[in-house]
Order: sequence, then structure tokens, then C-alpha cells
Amino acid sequence: MSHDHEPHEFALTDILEQRWSPRAFARDEVLDQTLLGPALEAARWSPSSGNSQPWSFVVGFRGDNTFSTILETLASGNQVWAEHAAVLVANIASVVDAEGNPQSHAVYDLGQAVAHFTVQATAEGLMVHQMGGFDAQTLGRELEIESSQRVVTVMAVGSMGDPTDLPEKLQEREAKPRERKPLSEIVGGSADYA
Ligand SMILES: Cc1cc2nc3c(=O)[nH]c(=O)nc-3n(C[C@H](O)[C@H](O)[C@H](O)COP(=O)(O)O)c2cc1C
Repeated sequence: MSHDHEPHEFALTDILEQRWSPRAFARDEVLDQTLLGPALEAARWSPSSGNSQPWSFVVGFRGDNTFSTILETLASGNQVWAEHAAVLVANIASVVDAEGNPQSHAVYDLGQAVAHFTVQATAEGLMVHQMGGFDAQTLGRELEIESSQRVVTVMAVGSMGDPTDLPEKLQEREAKPRERKPLSEIVGGSADYA
């Protein structure tokens, strides 16, 4: 389901047109690993520097221990809506390789894998809301990740819920049309979209 937004400067393919980051998730929805599989498969097949694939994903389904562990580390402003998502995922980058050298593109590669996850999830009728508002150190410790790894983001996944279930302030934010900087501001060189 697409969300109100400023007009596009160029038309987007349907899946990208439909993608946005809701806070209202379907509260009774139960997802399982089969339903989540296509989105994880898309992440797996995304490109990475030297095919290093420096990513891993820790998945929690609402009601299980992993979900609670991730939820507890979220900023309170995220907890209030993310607790109702069917799935929480910790997105982890391996920032140091097996020889102890920094993998300088690891966070970029993870972000791209998550982007692919998001596109495939949208195609499956799921919504994804990524978060940087969480305690990464605590979550890394709780999930017992390696010292070479970093939890970079968390994402909530599920079907769209009823926005009127959200606290009033979040209902306002949920209804706000999406905005972006114009192409003229972010593109330079020989392209001129002024
Ligand atoms: C790295 C990253 C961190 C984010 N952190 C949060 C967050 O902590 N809380 C939140 O509500 N949204 C968070 N977001 C969602 C963004 O606010 C959202 O993607 C942006 O406003 C654009 O909206 P759209 O995804 O609907 O197009 C984050 C997104 C990204 C990519």
C-alpha cells in the first residue's frame, strides 16, 4: 500500500512506489521463517565488495526470546510501535575480515542487502521499518556477536496495521506525506535537473 508523498520527478517501478516505513503493524499477525524466506534470500543475493557478503541477520518472531531481546534494546520511541510488529531483525555487519583487516565496505554492503530485503518484502506484501534508535552495544552483547561484528540497524517487519491503534502523536507522523530533497540538490556533474 503506497503512502502519500510529494510528486515523483520520474515514475518509479510499482514495488518502490509502494515501499514506505510504517509504524502501525498488524498486531495479531504471525509470520514464520517460510514467509520471511524470500526477503532473506534477496538479502543473500545482493552484491557486495569482492563478494565478501559481510552480513548476518538475527531474526526474532513476536513472542520468542530473540524478539524480546531485540525489543528491550530499542529506544522507547521505537519500542512503543515496534513491539507490535510480527518480526524484529538485527542487521549485523562483519567489519573486520578473517585476517583481521578492516572491511571498509561492510556497512555499505549490509545496507544494500537490507535494501534488497526491503524490496522483496514489499513484493511479498510485507512492510519494513528500519531503525538506528537502539543500544547497539547491549544488543551485540546479548546476541553474543563476535568482536569483528557490529549490529548496525534493527528492522521491524510485518503487514500494515491500523494507524488509529498508535498513540496520537505517532498517528500524526504516520499520516504525514513523505518528502525528499529534489534531484537538483543531490545530483551534480553533467546531469542538471534544475
Ligand atoms: C539507518 C536508518 C535508521 C533509521 N532509524 C529510525 C528510527 O530509529 N526510528 C524510526 O522511527 N525510523 C527510523 N528510520 C526510518 C526513517 O525515518 C525513514 O526511512 C525515513 O523517514 C524515510 O521514510 P520512508 O522509509 O517511509 O520513505 C531509519 C531508517 C534508516 C535507513
